Amino acid sequence: MTDKRNLVTITTIYQIMNTGANIIHKDPKKFVKKPNLSDYEKTYKEFTWKKAEKEYLDFFEDGTLNASYIAIDRHAIGKSASKNALLFESATGEKETYTYGQLKDLTNKFANVLDLHGVQKGDRVFIFLPTIPERLVVFFGILKLGAIAGTLFSAFMEMALMDRLLDSGAKVVVTNATLFPRIQKIWKDLPALEKVIIVERGSVDQPKGENLIYYKHEMEKASADFAIAHMQKEDLSYMLYTSGTTGKPKGVVHAHGDIVQAMVTTKFVLDVHEDDIYWCTADLGWVTGVVYGALGPFGLGATSVIFEGRFSPENWYKVLQDYQVTVWYTAPTAIRMLMGSPVSPKEYNLSNLRFLASVGEPLNPEAIWWGLEAFGLPFHDTWWQTEQGSITVTNYSVMDVRPGSMGKPLPGVIAAVIDEDGKEVPVGEEGHLALKPETIYSLMKQIWGNKEKFDSYFRNGWYLSGDKAFKDKDGYFWFVGRADDVIKTSGERVGPFEVESALVEHEDVIEAGVIGKPDELRGEIIKAFVVVKPGVEKNEETKKRIMAYVKQHLAGHAYPREIEFIDKLPKTRSGKIMRRLLKSRELGLPEGDTSTLEDY
Ligand code: PRX
Repeated sequence: MTDKRNLVTITTIYQIMNTGANIIHKDPKKFVKKPNLSDYEKTYKEFTWKKAEKEYLDFFEDGTLNASYIAIDRHAIGKSASKNALLFESATGEKETYTYGQLKDLTNKFANVLDLHGVQKGDRVFIFLPTIPERLVVFFGILKLGAIAGTLFSAFMEMALMDRLLDSGAKVVVTNATLFPRIQKIWKDLPALEKVIIVERGSVDQPKGENLIYYKHEMEKASADFAIAHMQKEDLSYMLYTSGTTGKPKGVVHAHGDIVQAMVTTKFVLDVHEDDIYWCTADLGWVTGVVYGALGPFGLGATSVIFEGRFSPENWYKVLQDYQVTVWYTAPTAIRMLMGSPVSPKEYNLSNLRFLASVGEPLNPEAIWWGLEAFGLPFHDTWWQTEQGSITVTNYSVMDVRPGSMGKPLPGVIAAVIDEDGKEVPVGEEGHLALKPETIYSLMKQIWGNKEKFDSYFRNGWYLSGDKAFKDKDGYFWFVGRADDVIKTSGERVGPFEVESALVEHEDVIEAGVIGKPDELRGEIIKAFVVVKPGVEKNEETKKRIMAYVKQHLAGHAYPREIEFIDKLPKTRSGKIMRRLLKSRELGLPEGDTSTLEDY
């Protein structure tokens, strides 16, 4: 198989069957590489997390461990020390490579820097940086010290930062000169925030001030020896804020031992082999960036690409080509943007690609068919959530793909579609997608400071995902939608309450209700129904001002792309906005049960 873009060759490996349900049948014997998971059914039967722990975890002599040791240091011994861990390309085209040996020294140094500045086990250190190598050095350095790494998306503005840094009681934030002003604005309201570390990369003038520490300066002085913190599997390692229907985002906290499932899935699902060049396009500010941009691939000692530049078909195809990427993990919106672009992947030499996967939102069958035509390979849909810490229901290299389906449970994981009482519903029937919590090894260990919220995920012995799905007769799971009002826009999870709260901060706005409106490209866009103060002009100008306000104060990605003025929001008698009703009306669907609606 020399040219994967040759359709004749493709059809010998991937036979597209027209069986009513289009299926992409595979012939693994003809794959470039033998899949890590060569027999799904057999592995599913035989796999246990106990055995996986033995295989994937490296314990210190006293029976403790550290995820950073597993991800970095153990590969920095012997021959693999000189293996490239990281291939970096900056937004302006500079290239850098880092070996596992170098990363060991850098992460040790950073752990020493934190130690010197009083950071202790369990303290929260947040990372607010663009996609640069320091982000990973900082992440693994924090874990080495036994502190908890919090990651932030670089599009967050001060309102989003405030919620997260205040709730977590972050002691240190690591950022750069460009992003620092957003922290500076809110620092006075963050009593726990003691120091900010500025990463000096780039030519911008560095901010000056009290309690600012300069990364390069400190790293030059720091020792490359560090006594890694000995942690238990359940000890906390990283946290991420994620959105639900109600209230502000919640801090989902994971533990050091969770790296086991990150590695198992990077191996079994993403099929990463030792000599692969792997590119996960997700930002470290989201869980996919943490688990599949850091823990999983480094845990396996693979070589990862990170690219600071913006998304464009030209940029991305060039990265795939120049770095000879073999395994590529990306997201449906990006795939749809590539699909819609006049730039063809066939103008690039992408012949090294051998495995493609996608996550974060429904992967529409058209995107899979397009991938097959464009790259000669199908995208493999994978499903999971921030709370789950790793992939749990998914497609595999060895398994036939049913375009539109999320695939089957990971070996070790029990998933089901259940009714309100926790009973499995018959095949083909829609219900709640739930998992046996004890079978998700990397399941969150807590919601930061909110036990009630944590407990609310579990009912009748199940972990409830909040997604609706059905299972077909062959055991494939199919995503139907969210059971709540959580919005997925370009694969990024946004809580309507967060956006509504930002909207009402605008001087013209009295009230706002926010929904996800289906969108061909982005999956959903944020749509806001807004009640404005008397006298405010209900025109395009006002809409633009309100949109810009949310974009500039909440987050660059979490602003309403559509605003509609409304005289009054539909609410329950207890005053809760009925977003479901706004959505049904928007989509022209039946309004359902409106018995709790206040007089309208
Ligand atoms: O609704 C599901 C959707 O994204 C949610 C989880 O979002 P988040 O915690 O940000 O995690 C993103 C990284 C996994 C889910 O509840 N979702 C995720 N993957 C898929 C998906 N929806 C459909 N198909 C998927 N493959």
